[in-house]
Amino acid sequence: MPLPVILDCDPGHDDAVAILLACASPELDVLGISTVAGNVPLEKTSKNALKICELAKLDHVRVYAGMSRPLVKELLTAEEVHGKSGLDGPDLPVPKRRLEPKHSVDFITEELLSHKEPITLIPTGPLTNIAMALVREPRIRNHIREIVLMGGAIAEGNTTPAAEFNIYVDPHAADIVFRSGVPVTMIGLDVTHQALVLPDRLQRIRDLGSHTALVVAGLIEFFQEHHRVKYGMAGPPLHDPCAVAAVVDRTLFQFKKMHVAIELEGRLTQGRTVCDLWNVTGNPVNSEVALSIDAPRFFDLLISRLAKYP
Ligand code: RIB
Ligand code: CA
Repeated sequence: MPLPVILDCDPGHDDAVAILLACASPELDVLGISTVAGNVPLEKTSKNALKICELAKLDHVRVYAGMSRPLVKELLTAEEVHGKSGLDGPDLPVPKRRLEPKHSVDFITEELLSHKEPITLIPTGPLTNIAMALVREPRIRNHIREIVLMGGAIAEGNTTPAAEFNIYVDPHAADIVFRSGVPVTMIGLDVTHQALVLPDRLQRIRDLGSHTALVVAGLIEFFQEHHRVKYGMAGPPLHDPCAVAAVVDRTLFQFKKMHVAIELEGRLTQGRTVCDLWNVTGNPVNSEVALSIDAPRFFDLLISRLAKYP
């Protein structure tokens, strides 16, 4: 039976590919897409989610807009990575479909409380919506199978030397999530920086030849430039699809159970996921953290699922 999941995202080029991977994976039943402010403001992340659903003719997938800013901090966006629209590159038409009228925090809460079985949440942006739902209605904790998130890192930082973007934008939300008692699987930069769309992989996507595949290739080509200049990478990292892939096939990754805490105060380290790799604190395990990824198999999975789109 497919696993019920809710995507919570800030499209964003890699979020867009994550949506396509999730919706083409028979292992998952995507109950809906929730959007959050992150890479670009909420209005644009929400419009971009609709654009991707229309591109791939995902007419049955509902999109709900959520929180427009972090819980405490001012919103920090990433137009330098994703462009002004948040999905720069190929020219995607203005979506015809509208957002659902319901706020995504209401959608997440109501879906969790009413669904016949626990739901897996897959956040790939700042954790503001998830934290709001947990604070507003703690009862949902028993209805969440697990939270498999893209965010944080054991050793890296991409927004500061100490912090990854999704956590840095809303560290207070991340703190609530990691202290919630809900099982967390953390897919951090340590592994997503191994999931690079190298030229041969990009060509395999192009060679699919469909309209959707060619648009994805165009999005990746745009996404590539920032990572070439900033990191000298031979291809951009597909951060968010890694979180979806971890739900589809956990064997693509190696994990280690550990305690993860979020630094809130550090002048240099705010937003750090403090990963107790060697259990030096003795704090109880609250997460499974990805240590490695089988990148060739990840791309085989991704490309086989993208092949399903027209
Ligand atoms: O740090 C990478 C993460 O931040 C990705 O989810 C990207 O889409 C941005 O949200
Ligand atoms: Ca994202």
